Amino acid sequence: MSGIDNHGARAFDISGLANLTLAEYDALEPLRWPVPARGHPGTQRLLRDGRFQFADGRARFVATVPREPTHRTDAEYPWVLNTGRVRDQWHTMTRTGYAPRLTGHTPEPYVEMHPQDALLTGSRSGELVRVSTRWGSMIGRLRLSGEVRRGTVFVPIHWNDAYASDARVGALVNPVVDPVSGEPELKHTPARIAPFIVSWHGFVLSRKPLARLDMTWWTLVRGKNFLRYELAGRRVYREWSTWARQALQVRDLEADWIEYSDPAAGVYRAALLEQGRIAACLFISPRPDLPERSWLAGLFAKPRLEDTDRAGLLMGRPAERRADTGPVVCACFGVGRRVLCDAIATGDLATVTEIGRALRAGTRCGSCVPEIKSLIEDVRAGRQCE
Ligand code: FES
Repeated sequence: MSGIDNHGARAFDISGLANLTLAEYDALEPLRWPVPARGHPGTQRLLRDGRFQFADGRARFVATVPREPTHRTDAEYPWVLNTGRVRDQWHTMTRTGYAPRLTGHTPEPYVEMHPQDALLTGSRSGELVRVSTRWGSMIGRLRLSGEVRRGTVFVPIHWNDAYASDARVGALVNPVVDPVSGEPELKHTPARIAPFIVSWHGFVLSRKPLARLDMTWWTLVRGKNFLRYELAGRRVYREWSTWARQALQVRDLEADWIEYSDPAAGVYRAALLEQGRIAACLFISPRPDLPERSWLAGLFAKPRLEDTDRAGLLMGRPAERRADTGPVVCACFGVGRRVLCDAIATGDLATVTEIGRALRAGTRCGSCVPEIKSLIEDVRAGRQCE
């Protein structure tokens, strides 16, 4: 497509790669565009010769007059909705959503706010909130961050109807576009935030897709050897066991099915094993304080569970704490937060460089470095890091 009617008019032209064979594609080394013809080696540096894509080779400046956003906040929509990407995903996850290493870091849509602003909405960190604008609404999990400017709310763009029941933030953005570039006002839509009340929160890790998605809210990402669903619902089931078996398509009454139920506390947990390996697990609680997913996720890589794994299954954590590495911070090398916190807290590793040398975290793409730095700061400031 980049080559259609191009004839050198547009710098972006990778039509020379259009007919690569699979073998050529697999062997392809990174290269820079333009690549206008088959066999073209790529371009050393764009605009190196000082010529732009106009007939006279000269650039054009487009003079723009700054103006205020078209739609202002008001009493009904007091927050500024800002949308953007997260570090491990791209567009609507059509490709990055297939890389388990990337989906582990930010596995669900979220709504980021300054902690003091969040107080005004009546919602707490980890709970679900509804973001509404005059054009649409969506649901995400509230995250608090001192990095979000007061008065603004950040929501990532990546989730669509294929990956979540109600998280398409593009539908909320106001339709005003830039008169020159055509880009929508993606960074400034007046919004309001309200708690999204549910009766229970839950998650499922399963080798097979869920048979039913009749809960109030769900999101999905692909892990390594499993699908991860985050769930929430309003309808409370008296027989969670029946519901869970249907959801996980467990028809065999002799199946290796273990479960724990505390109806008074609203807690239900279950796991399905097949030929000694984990096939699925499901956790339900009235609050979002569910077990960490990382250790359970790691069990799906094991051809057979050990007795100690089975013992920890319904707790959602290993009997021995050290086996739990925590949620992924460095996607490139699969280094978890607990590993980093332990190393920093014991004083073994005090800088990003030392951490990189010992654990490799932060030494490839570098996008986890800010998070590693903030963990170091947490420990230095005596804040909890785990
Ligand atoms: S995520 Fe790439 S180096 Fe850590």
